[in-house]
Amino acid sequence: MRIDIITCLPRLLDSFFAHSILQRAQQGGYVEVVVHDLRDYTADKHRRVDDYAFGGGAGMVMQIEPIARCIRALQADRAYDEVIYMTPDGERLNQQTTNTLSLKQNLIILCGHYKGVDERVRTLFITKEISIGDYVLSGGELAACVLSDAIIRLLPGVLNDETSALTDSFQDNLLAPPVYTRPAEFEGNSVPAILLSGHEAKIDEWRYEQALERTRTRRPDLLEP
Ligand code: 6GU
Repeated sequence: MRIDIITCLPRLLDSFFAHSILQRAQQGGYVEVVVHDLRDYTADKHRRVDDYAFGGGAGMVMQIEPIARCIRALQADRAYDEVIYMTPDGERLNQQTTNTLSLKQNLIILCGHYKGVDERVRTLFITKEISIGDYVLSGGELAACVLSDAIIRLLPGVLNDETSALTDSFQDNLLAPPVYTRPAEFEGNSVPAILLSGHEAKIDEWRYEQALERTRTRRPDLLEP
């Protein structure tokens, strides 16, 4: 998979992708993440990417020309499955969307800033608009990191334990059950005996019951049809 991220704050993204699982995923050849500085695609000598909003009002708007130039340059080299715009008024991200996107080959992610992008960018170039929740961030960069992380960890081979992503919260619409490790007793607080029993079928059953109970109490909305 290849992910191209378009931003006016490339340094903000570089550090995120340079560590831990995301770094290993790139070094292992599972994903190629390429960050593009929007300012490299401006025609004017001040490298401006934004301007005042027509009609007035507070806040700058990201201009269409540098974005169009960048997206077209990428599309000239390969076909993209989606051109995603990170925006608080997009469709709210969930595991289902993440799973679907993890099956794609090439993705472009555009990070909005200021008051957002010129509306014509959205109508002409964007195929999918994603929000990471009902609150406003100062830019789409953090949201692009969240989306990329959620996708990349699903790519086969990226996680050490191949089955690990399948037992995450939200797969099967259930929250994950509680987990424990050594010591078996901490200051009088014991691990549930069933987990020490070695009885695999009973343990699976217990985990399922716990996941169901946890979902019922914390996120009953996930259980609705
Ligand atoms: Cl994708 N962008 C911004 N700026 N704020 C957000 C968001 C995205 N998702 C939630 N809040």
